Amino acid sequence: MKTKIAPSILSADFSVMGEAVKKLEQSGADLVHCDVMDGTFVEPITFGGQMVKNIRPLTKLPLDVHLMIEHPKTQIKFFAEAGADIITVHYEACKKISDDYLRETLELIKSYGVKCGAVVNPDVPVENIFPVFPLCDMVLLMSVFPGYGGQKFISEVLEKVKKARAYAVQIGKPDLDIEIDGGVTEENAAAIRAAGANVLVAGSTVFKSSDMAKTIANLKK
Ligand code: DX5
Ligand code: ZN
Repeated sequence: MKTKIAPSILSADFSVMGEAVKKLEQSGADLVHCDVMDGTFVEPITFGGQMVKNIRPLTKLPLDVHLMIEHPKTQIKFFAEAGADIITVHYEACKKISDDYLRETLELIKSYGVKCGAVVNPDVPVENIFPVFPLCDMVLLMSVFPGYGGQKFISEVLEKVKKARAYAVQIGKPDLDIEIDGGVTEENAAAIRAAGANVLVAGSTVFKSSDMAKTIANLKK
C-alpha cells in the first residue's frame, strides 16, 4: 500500500498558518492533519471549525480533522460545513456517553458526505473499535497520549497496528486506511509501515525539518 504522510499543523506557527499549509502541499504531503483540542478531553485548546474553513481554499490536499474533544457529536456540523474531508473521533470520549455514541457519531459524519474514522488511545485495545471497522474509512491508533506534539513514540502500538490490519483484511477491507499519530520520525517510519499502517501523522518531524520535502519523502521510503 502506498504510504501517505499527514503533517500535523499543531507544530506550525499559527500566525502564518496559510503559508504553512501551502508549503506542506508543495513539499509532497498527502493530507493536512488538523488537531482539534478542547481543553477538557485534553488539556490544551487549539482551534475550531474557523481554522478549517480558512485553510480550506488554500490547498487541494484532504483535511484530516482529528477531534480530541468531549461530546464530538455536537461539533460535527461545524467541521463538516467548514470543509473537512475526514473527521476522526475518540472512542474514549464516546464511550463515556453511551455504548452507541461512537457509531452514531460516525454515521452523523457520513451523513454530511465526509469520511469518518475512530481513534483509540495507546492504552485502549484496538479490539474495542473492531465493531465499527465496517463503518470507518480510516482508523487512527494513537502512538502517544493525545494533547501535545513532540512526545516519544510508544512502540507497543505496533502490535495493535498488526491486529488492526489483520482484522481489516478479515472483514474484506484490506485497503482500510490505518493511521498512526504521535512520535513518528524518519527512524521509526519503516517499522510503522511494516506493521501495516499506511497513513503517518508527523508534526515536529516535519515542521522542525530544514528540508520539509526531503523529510516527507524519507518518511514514505
Ligand atoms: C497529539 C496530536 C498529534 C501530534 C503529533 O495530541 O494528535 O497529531 O501533533 O505530533 P508529533 O508528530 O510531534 O508527535
Ligand atoms: Zn492528531
